[in-house]
Amino acid sequence: MQAAGENLVVVKNIKKYFRLDKGRIIRANARYLHAVDFVSFNIRKGEIFGIIGESGSGKSTIGRCIIRLLDIDSGEVYFDGKKISDLGPRELKAYRKDMQMVFQNPLASFNPKMTIGQTYREIAKVYKIPKQESEKRIHELIEYINLTDDVLTRLPKELSGGQLQRLAIARALLVEPKFILADEPVSALDVSVQAQILNLMIDLKKEKGQTILFISHDLTVVRHVCDKVAVVYLGTIVEMGPTAEVYKNVAHPYTQALIDAKPKEHPLEYKAHKLLEGEISSAVNVKEGCRFRERCSRFKEGLCSERTPKLKKIGPDHYVACHYPLIG
Ligand SMILES: Nc1ncnc2c1ncn2[C@@H]1O[C@H](COP(=O)(O)OP(=O)(O)OP(=O)(O)O)[C@@H](O)[C@H]1O
Ligand SMILES: [Mg+2]
Repeated sequence: MQAAGENLVVVKNIKKYFRLDKGRIIRANARYLHAVDFVSFNIRKGEIFGIIGESGSGKSTIGRCIIRLLDIDSGEVYFDGKKISDLGPRELKAYRKDMQMVFQNPLASFNPKMTIGQTYREIAKVYKIPKQESEKRIHELIEYINLTDDVLTRLPKELSGGQLQRLAIARALLVEPKFILADEPVSALDVSVQAQILNLMIDLKKEKGQTILFISHDLTVVRHVCDKVAVVYLGTIVEMGPTAEVYKNVAHPYTQALIDAKPKEHPLEYKAHKLLEGEISSAVNVKEGCRFRERCSRFKEGLCSERTPKLKKIGPDHYVACHYPLIG
């Protein structure tokens, strides 16, 4: 169990641009996609921190920059008090064990030719967990995720999506990581099994003090599991705060639009909202001004098109980047 309260992850002004016209020559007119643009937030130990936004808003890129699957262009990432954003591959090795990932598609995340047991034992070997200890941990984890040891002899294709995602979470837990990045962990699953996985995440936090970065495009899911939430739009955080506070006092028109766009009565009865008409615009060579302005019902000439709004505090731990917020 980790001590709650202190920060495990500190992200300071990180930036990640992808160059679109590939080539070695640096040209003045090169086109860059601003996937992550000056993003800052902290994740406390024992907390589930959510990132929410539409497809292409930069959620996965933020996650990958934190666990150093991607190198950032500028900014800093601290993990458990140590700056890891400028560590080389050899120094990073020491941190790999502590930063595990759970992916969207559990089937694709397992080696199809290996049984679950073989996969687990190979990981235990890589991380040099003594055999007796790893066998004990595997058995306890299988029990913890409500399965039985016979799954260890099965191939991934012989298991259901829900079972496999529970096994993917157990695989992450096998090395007792300090941090889990769960990138859309329920999006590929049947609605009927999504709750099992979400409840497992909540149990991990409550019972093991597990720190989790939970990426999702589904507000209902985020509301259910996350202590805090950052709403991202085209690579920037537009609103951030304790989940309950953000829901109670919605400040950014984009957050409001996401809430209103959710189907209300039945998942099949999709109700699009007027505010969220139109595609998410492009993050290529972004200029000054609010990135949400073309879709925003509160757009006003002047400030919105001329100045990029910065995150400002509007309540207890609650921040919004909007010139004309709904509150505050
Ligand atoms: N390796 C890459 N090279 C070029 N562009 C990339 C690369 N990876 C991501 N992008 C672009 O960066 C932007 C952010 O992508 P990202 O995958 O982080 O979005 P996301 O919010 O996770 O979307 P989704 O909900 O679809 O998973 C997108 O426009 C994407 O096309
Ligand atoms: Mg993604």
